[in-house]
Amino acid sequence: MKGNEEAIALFLVCLFSIAAAAAAIDRNKFPADFLFGTSTSAYQIEGGYLEGNKSLSNWDLFTRIPGKIVDGSNGDVADDHYHRYIEDVELMHYLGVNSYRFSISWSRILPRGRFGQINQNGIKFYSNLIDALLDKGIKPFVTLNHYDIPQELEDQYGGWLNPQIQNDFGYFAEVCFEAFGEKVTYWSTLNAPNLVIKMGYMKGEYAPGRCSLPYVSCPSGNSRTEPYLAAHNVILSHATAVDIYRKKYQRKHGGFIGIIMAANWREPFTDTPMDRSAASRALAFEVPWFLDPIIYGDYPPEMLQILGSRLPIFSIEDKQKLQTKLDFIGVNHYTSLYAEDCLFSQCDSQSTLEGYGFAYTTGEKDGRFIGDNTGVNNFYVVPSGLEKMILYIMKRYNNITMFITENGFGQDGSSNPSNEIRKELLNDRKRVEFHTAYLSSLLEAMRKGADVRGYFIWTLMDNFEWSNGYSKRFGLYHVNFSSQERTPKLSAKWYKEFLQSSAELCTKADGDVKPKLVAQ
Ligand code: BGC
Repeated sequence: MKGNEEAIALFLVCLFSIAAAAAAIDRNKFPADFLFGTSTSAYQIEGGYLEGNKSLSNWDLFTRIPGKIVDGSNGDVADDHYHRYIEDVELMHYLGVNSYRFSISWSRILPRGRFGQINQNGIKFYSNLIDALLDKGIKPFVTLNHYDIPQELEDQYGGWLNPQIQNDFGYFAEVCFEAFGEKVTYWSTLNAPNLVIKMGYMKGEYAPGRCSLPYVSCPSGNSRTEPYLAAHNVILSHATAVDIYRKKYQRKHGGFIGIIMAANWREPFTDTPMDRSAASRALAFEVPWFLDPIIYGDYPPEMLQILGSRLPIFSIEDKQKLQTKLDFIGVNHYTSLYAEDCLFSQCDSQSTLEGYGFAYTTGEKDGRFIGDNTGVNNFYVVPSGLEKMILYIMKRYNNITMFITENGFGQDGSSNPSNEIRKELLNDRKRVEFHTAYLSSLLEAMRKGADVRGYFIWTLMDNFEWSNGYSKRFGLYHVNFSSQERTPKLSAKWYKEFLQSSAELCTKADGDVKPKLVAQ
């Protein structure tokens, strides 16, 4: 618990920062029905890794491989949200958010994938969570898969590498639509598959930890071929789930379904045609890699040119399946980097840049960074990048509806910080500045016509940050991982003020109110 002095100091800083922030950005500039929320994911917060008949996920195993997680930690307990979800819903209620984005642990619902029973304990957990949210007027925004898959699927057939996963994913999705669909309006099939594939099959830094030289050395994998095979199955798994939703549930439940992409901006290193085209290749090897097939039925030309026959082909049947498309795109945006040409120019480690469209990315130019540093390597503060990214997606995909499903600021901090460091972590003025600047950038994009319907801060509370373990903190709430105590940071107070100040203004919002989101 905080001492009095600390509380007063925090309050004063809070007032000052909130006043400054409020001057910059207003909730009432956004449409009244705009979703404002926080995001989390199952493996990063739930813990209870073997409780209620849950089976092991591929992350449960991956975190056990020595050297994979910087602090040697794992998500066995994480934020213990499995036992504390009621308290966590209260935290959100305090903030005043109208939506909460979370993911479902596949191995909690189907411990053995398609090969076993539906786990009623798992169903109950998420039903209770959804009811608790709805009770407080918070709309669930559910991601079916945020990185973790049942280990059984890796063991039986190699997970995403095998086309069999398309049926498994469809089955999992259907179990969830059936169990929760009446109460859920927003579904996302997958979170940031572009990141999962690159980190899991090219660099070996995420589960299932596969890669090969000249990229990186792993016990097994092939960095030049597997990412494209796995991505192909991810794309068709998305289509399988959407197909089921469209045919059996959408009309009945009146909801919407989309996919979420890691969408960081790439700025040409120099204003030359070569670097401009490097930046556009770098972008194509991220978001369009997945969205061009889903929306237009095939891989982006930028990828086809470089990878040729290494990209799998969509059969006529696959293309048929891809007709189901999506209702919205979720955008996870954190930063921007420069992109430099390595297709026509000679670069170091050129062969490992193939998977990035032969574009070398860096945050530094002429000894200066692209934006202020955060506590996370290569995550710089570049608010204008969000507007550019949104306008890029808007243009490429004909102004499809978007949600900013993640935007956040990471602090550097150990799992067990000293009191001094803890004080600094709580006084996260830089995070407040980050969000106010990024929200202004979002507004600019909306003023230019982008159809954005919501903004979710990553993340509700400090949690397990994948290969960074507990060493990076993105939360609005500080978590003491020994006692599980949650303490609001300055940013939590700012978010609450930001959302509250608009409660009355909201009804007379001067925002560009759009017609209702329509299913495609
Ligand atoms: C992921 C989150 C992660 C965040 C910060 C996002 O792309 O979806 O799970 O915590 O990045 O690294």
